[in-house]
Amino acid sequence: MDKLIINGGNRLHGEIPISGAKNAALPILCASLLTADDIELTNVPHLKDVQTMLTLLQQMGVTVKKDGNKIVMNGNTVHNFNAPYELVKTMRAAILVLCPLVARFGEAKVSLPGGCAIGSRPVEQHIKGLRALGAEVEIKAGYIYAKAKKLKGTRIVTDMITVTGTENLLMAATLAEGETVIKNAAREPEVTDLAHLLVKMGAKIEGIGTDRLVIHGVERLHGARHDVIPDRIETGTFLCAVAATGGDVTLTKTRDNILESALNKIREMGADISAGADWIRIKMEKRPRGVNFRTTEYPGFPTDMQAQFMAVNCLADEATHVIETIFENRFMHVQELNRLGARIKTEGNTAFISGVGKLVGAPVMATDLRASASLVIAGLAAQGETQVNRIYHLDRGYDRMEVKLTAVGADIKRVKQ
Ligand code: EPU
Repeated sequence: MDKLIINGGNRLHGEIPISGAKNAALPILCASLLTADDIELTNVPHLKDVQTMLTLLQQMGVTVKKDGNKIVMNGNTVHNFNAPYELVKTMRAAILVLCPLVARFGEAKVSLPGGCAIGSRPVEQHIKGLRALGAEVEIKAGYIYAKAKKLKGTRIVTDMITVTGTENLLMAATLAEGETVIKNAAREPEVTDLAHLLVKMGAKIEGIGTDRLVIHGVERLHGARHDVIPDRIETGTFLCAVAATGGDVTLTKTRDNILESALNKIREMGADISAGADWIRIKMEKRPRGVNFRTTEYPGFPTDMQAQFMAVNCLADEATHVIETIFENRFMHVQELNRLGARIKTEGNTAFISGVGKLVGAPVMATDLRASASLVIAGLAAQGETQVNRIYHLDRGYDRMEVKLTAVGADIKRVKQ
């Protein structure tokens, strides 16, 4: 397993290009199952999770042609409707093949994802919605078996706001007979990006970007071209890195209107932020001020940024608290940040951070993607050497992070093991 060695203390200066959004690309790749025509995608990030999803889709019979960050997919010869445990256990987003398969081919066998480092993360809302659309769904020996001659439009109100649940049911409804209403829908920009692709494919969707999606099912969908939106979490992660180390960095190929709540918190930390249509510049001249926040669904503060902001809070003078409301176990970075000298205590879903002003490098290990990112941020600001172990988590969701950080002056290198 590779690790990262970081010598902290360098200020960051220069430009970082932001990649396409992981959490938009993953459902969008699955949308290739909904049509027999070509789906041409640009701005697809180079990530382990994207590769895993492509492997799964190829096993099903989707053809994939890759050229840099461009991918052309064709679902004309799909013959296998099975998502095996071996793949789903490495990437929960594989559940996103369930609804497209049932909608177009009338059947699917998809492994239940099981638990995950950040929470139990059940998928019963995906199943409940698919049943409401008329599918017969059985759970046997760890697999979801779903069948439907033709899905039928219905009204769905999910018990909680679920991102991939909304995406799965939205894809199902595009090919269902009649009208489907999804209430309590997730409004994350990644859901909206998927909806925009589906509309280009011929889907009829109203209420895009709101919590009430109305879908008028069509007989078939056709090919389309689409440019994946910028990754707002990668953007926010680099903003946190600069807030922690100080410096002056322009993030290109991204935009500010998909991460307003996080940007407001970065400003509160004392950063000077300016932005244009496709760039965001951060200048940070002082030590960060600590910020309190509570994670919620979009447009609130994203759970996927909680760990990175907590790392910056450790460097502040003041005491802060952070409340995690989306996942029940998303504080796995706390013990590791404490190894770097942070003073964080947790009580239930609240973390209390006593700012310590400086961190000192140490070996650390991460258990999930965003936790790994928080340790990199802490390591960049810490005195001395930090080793971040188990970085396969980082490679799942960040496109060559150490290369991008080196280009702006960080002392960070990957050691192959
Ligand atoms: N939930 C249920 N039942 C369901 C579905 C969800 O109880 O059927 C619960 C979850 O356990 C969680 C909450 O509802 O407590 C919200 O979960 P959601 O379904 O929205 O999460 P997800 O769709 O599995 C996506 C992202 C996550 C991100 C969350 C929240 C993708 C591929 N993943 O997950 O991204 O944290 O939304 O915004 O889009 C990451 O990129 O690091 C990551 C974990």
